[in-house]
Amino acid sequence: MILPGAAVGVLGGGQLGRMFALQAHTMGYRVVVLDPDPHSPAGAVADRHLQAPYDDESALAELSRSCAAITTEFENVPAVALQRLSRASIVRPPIHAVATTQDRIAEKTYLQSEGFATTAFRSIQSRRDLATAVSEIPFPAILKTSRLGYDGKGQAVVTNESDAVVAFERFGQVPCVLEERVLLDRELSVIVARGADGEIATFPVSENRHRDGILETSLVPARISAQLAQQARELAVALAGAMRYVGVLGIELFVTRGEQLLVNEMAPRPHNSGHYTMDACSADQFEQQLRALCGLPLARPWLLSPVAMINLLGDLWSGGEPRWEEALRRPGVRLHLYGKTEARPGRKMGHLNCLAPDAEQALALAVETRDALVRRETTP
Ligand SMILES: Nc1ncnc2c1ncn2[C@@H]1O[C@H](COP(=O)(O)OP(=O)(O)O)[C@@H](O)[C@H]1O
Ligand SMILES: [Mg+2]
Repeated sequence: MILPGAAVGVLGGGQLGRMFALQAHTMGYRVVVLDPDPHSPAGAVADRHLQAPYDDESALAELSRSCAAITTEFENVPAVALQRLSRASIVRPPIHAVATTQDRIAEKTYLQSEGFATTAFRSIQSRRDLATAVSEIPFPAILKTSRLGYDGKGQAVVTNESDAVVAFERFGQVPCVLEERVLLDRELSVIVARGADGEIATFPVSENRHRDGILETSLVPARISAQLAQQARELAVALAGAMRYVGVLGIELFVTRGEQLLVNEMAPRPHNSGHYTMDACSADQFEQQLRALCGLPLARPWLLSPVAMINLLGDLWSGGEPRWEEALRRPGVRLHLYGKTEARPGRKMGHLNCLAPDAEQALALAVETRDALVRRETTP
């Protein structure tokens, strides 16, 4: 066990690394962040910020030397960086899990090989693959780049073959998946943690709504049957076990109109839809990440209150600094900001966790509060 007082390392300095670092500090650990960005949200709160590219040999050596264990806060770390670190240090999650989850083709192929249902898809490496795939995947379909997509980026809904060709060319003919667009009843996610000893714990199932491909709200408890919630948690346990995963894994699920669960994608790290745990659970997803990383017993988290998480995107800044007093004066609302200075449309700047007696009220409070934050031009 790596105990409090030790230093832990994080690859990546975004908001997930920041929330991890803050939680690690709460529990008496020191934190070293590697991120090239001088204004990195995690770097700003860490004990040390190694400001260098992810494949910088001397920075990786320093991270290894100064930390008892190292984790990542994003899936697009270069494989070479993880390999370099794994030679000398404990690195969790394992490289194979990061490699699988950073590539949609590898991920979906793996899921199907292990018997987990996904949407129907075809791997697209060339125009020829695409020509074959469009006769097998019904329209409307979605073309997604296999790598580096997030928040709906690197995706196009296509309704005929020429649409698909145009999108493939616009993506630079990089490897893609052509995926069936499913009629969804709703979207869920489960955050699961697995320790090196094989112990597994899940967080309560979250019900997620997206807007323009970006997560907008997460609601817990999800408005689904106890049976479906149980099924989702069992799926997460089975998947974490099958992958011999170590760390925190975010699993996005589709619920079809026929109540079938499909695995959409996985993230080898805490997940935006798990931010609700910070204020509504007996232990949060960042504590769980630290526990799995350090070989501590996993927390057995339970829900303390119904909750809705709502993301605060850069769009809220369009009329100037948001009216924070609107969040601060409402009972049950907790404000989380990531310390990003530049507010661009669609950029995740922070979130609100809104607690209420039931999920519907929590959701109404979240939407009302978010909307009240926007500073509008007042006509004299
Ligand atoms: N095959 C699909 N059918 C229906 N909706 C989809 C499909 N794929 C993606 N979406 C919608 O787009 C969102 C983002 O897609 P996702 O594959 O999760 O990419 P990202 O990496 O950007 O999160 C999903 O949460 C869902 O709302
Ligand atoms: Mg997603």
